[in-house]
Amino acid sequence: MKVFINKIIPERGYRMLEEAGIAYTVWKEKPILDRGQAIQFCKGHDAFLSAGQAGLDADFFEQCKHLKVVALHSVGFDGVDIEAATARGIPVGNTPNVLNKATAETALLLMLTVARRALYHHKRIKKGEWGIAKPTEGLGFDLAGKTLGIVGLGRIGAELAAICTRSWGMKILYHNRSSNKRAEEAYGATKVSFDKLLEQSDVVSVHTALTEETRGMFGMDQFKKMKSSAIFINTARGGVHQEEELIAALDQKIIWGAGIDVTNPEPMAANNPLLDMDNAVVFPHIGSATKETRDEMTRCAVENIIAGLKGKEIPYPVNPEVYSD
Ligand code: DGY
Repeated sequence: MKVFINKIIPERGYRMLEEAGIAYTVWKEKPILDRGQAIQFCKGHDAFLSAGQAGLDADFFEQCKHLKVVALHSVGFDGVDIEAATARGIPVGNTPNVLNKATAETALLLMLTVARRALYHHKRIKKGEWGIAKPTEGLGFDLAGKTLGIVGLGRIGAELAAICTRSWGMKILYHNRSSNKRAEEAYGATKVSFDKLLEQSDVVSVHTALTEETRGMFGMDQFKKMKSSAIFINTARGGVHQEEELIAALDQKIIWGAGIDVTNPEPMAANNPLLDMDNAVVFPHIGSATKETRDEMTRCAVENIIAGLKGKEIPYPVNPEVYSD
């Protein structure tokens, strides 16, 4: 039994595979594999541990229908043709829950960085513009007592709500298809319409999955409904906001600022206008990028591989229906 791993993963993963008696091949070279090469490697292996979702389409699953399991090194699976995997009896696993805290903290970091204009001030020093401090210049705003609107209040959104209510007494609004009773009880979160959330929030933070329903859900119409003093945060998927319209909304000061950890496409081009704007902060998709979180993601992914190769149900399936008759 052999697994193909398309990028270097934390050491813990290799140890777990060795202890389970599973052989592995890791692609360690700098240029990442193209789709054709990845398929060729998969053809010579029984399982695939994929860091990244590129190329996992219907054709991939058709060409690699011998795979006993595909384990993603991510919680997101929006780029994977799950139906195609299920149709061929292939369980696909992800890494749920273990990155909730790290991702919520990334949203928090963006909120603070934008609210306190931290990156703008950093750039001022670099440009030799520190100068004489004046009481009314370069001011940010407090998060304490403000309203946080969470679009997609699931586990990551709940972590953010916990920190923001505890630390700053923020009021929580949320917009979901179904109610999150736990968050309502624990954080006093109030479910509201999308429009109401846009109109009443001082910070709007996106934590929804990318689906046909959420793709492009933030465009100029939505930014115009937000307060001109509000911040837009996206740590979910770049496809949820329309980038050109976000740039226009920031440029025309329709909203006060934005902090994004996700872009569309990724990676973002180095000449993207957002990178030069004083009211925008961009991170290169670092939501889960802590040592501890990546170790845990590796544990989940490798547990999926081991179970799949041993013919057992994988512990973190995205398509549990693959096991029903
Ligand atoms: C995920 O796991 O889906 C994250 O977006 C990757 O950091």
